[in-house]
Amino acid sequence: MTRNTHESRTQMPLHSIDVARLTGRIRELGEIGRDPQGQLTRLAGSDNDKAGRDRFVGWLETAGLEVAIDPIGNIFGIWRDEGNADAAPVMLGSHIDTVINAGIYDGCYGVLAALEVIETLKGRGVVPDRPVVVAAFTNEEGVRYAPDMLGSLVYVGGLPIEAALATIGTDGSVLGEELERIGYAGDAEPGLLRPHAYVELHIEQGPVLEREGFAIGAVENLQGISWQRVTIDGVANHAGTTPMAMRNDAGLAAARIGLFLREHIALSNAPSVATVGTMRFEPDAINVIPSRATFTVDLRDPDEDRLQVLEAALADFLVRVAAEEGVEISVERLARFQPVGFDQCIVEAIEASAKAHGLKSRRMTSGAGHDAQMIARIAPTAMIFVPSRDGISHNPREHTEPADLVAGANVLLDVVERIACRGWKGN
Ligand code: GLV
Ligand code: MN
Ligand code: MN
Repeated sequence: MTRNTHESRTQMPLHSIDVARLTGRIRELGEIGRDPQGQLTRLAGSDNDKAGRDRFVGWLETAGLEVAIDPIGNIFGIWRDEGNADAAPVMLGSHIDTVINAGIYDGCYGVLAALEVIETLKGRGVVPDRPVVVAAFTNEEGVRYAPDMLGSLVYVGGLPIEAALATIGTDGSVLGEELERIGYAGDAEPGLLRPHAYVELHIEQGPVLEREGFAIGAVENLQGISWQRVTIDGVANHAGTTPMAMRNDAGLAAARIGLFLREHIALSNAPSVATVGTMRFEPDAINVIPSRATFTVDLRDPDEDRLQVLEAALADFLVRVAAEEGVEISVERLARFQPVGFDQCIVEAIEASAKAHGLKSRRMTSGAGHDAQMIARIAPTAMIFVPSRDGISHNPREHTEPADLVAGANVLLDVVERIACRGWKGN
């Protein structure tokens, strides 16, 4: 066995993860949770989530890792030995829950590549100076339970466990009851391991790396996220007999708000993005003016001040629309996370690892939310991105070339070797 010190690694050749094992597991996990039409959906706490978790825990056990599950269902595969058990671990990971009709890479790639890194190091007989841990955090997507990144938020103490377990889902389910039901309400202490560093490998989910010809993104920050649910109450009336000027049309008011966001951002020339991703009308009938519209608004910007300005512009517009359309509008906050800056030393380690592997890298901002933004509250953190074909994600067409998956995992491997060694940042 070789203890992998900073000095010895500089003489070592570059190593690679096991390509077939990594890509095989990504495909295998991607088959779990498909409906008869072939759509992949593993929402947090669902039966499909349980099936995915079971497979993942099976792989952790086969790899000889210590498995810990905390009360919010976060799963940890811990690799430590007597010599390093007292040191704070290097934590790697992401999530294995999915959106509705998902692709197979979002989150799963980072989790399975983290496991792959540990197995590769173990297989080589390397014993790092620190434990290395793979984490799969609960409900990162936030599709069934808001907020997103809920498991990692609880892990860092940003949301009390009782409040998190009491979260009501879009289907009326209670998260804590669902975790009990599927056998993933664990008994490990919340926040059981305080990482020395956290690194999350993820597909980019956007077009930049592919378009610009880079293999690796060294992610140095992540934009702020604002989620709200808007409810508009109007008056149901006959679609044929009610003159246009005499309507209190909740549907029309909702449509105006969606359009406002698009036009406002275009005029402001900011990199902000706005999405109305869900919309429901009541009574939802072709010949009835909607009495109620309920929809969600997702606003994001890398700059906190700009995000606040956008939120204020929306709030002002809601007042105006309510008056002009004769409707009542109420707003419920679902999530609000400020932009996050990542750790420069880890970002530099990612750049150095990419260079050592002969891979072109560029620094970038994450447009998506990730568990890394929560863990950054308690540990030095950064992310590695690999290209997404056509920039598509949250869609079954999500794809990353195997060569890019391997490149990202090898950079993660190299980064772990750098930062899990004595001599790196405060050892
Ligand atoms: C998580 O996937 C997000 O919404 O950014
Ligand atoms: Mn993700
Ligand atoms: Mn996602």
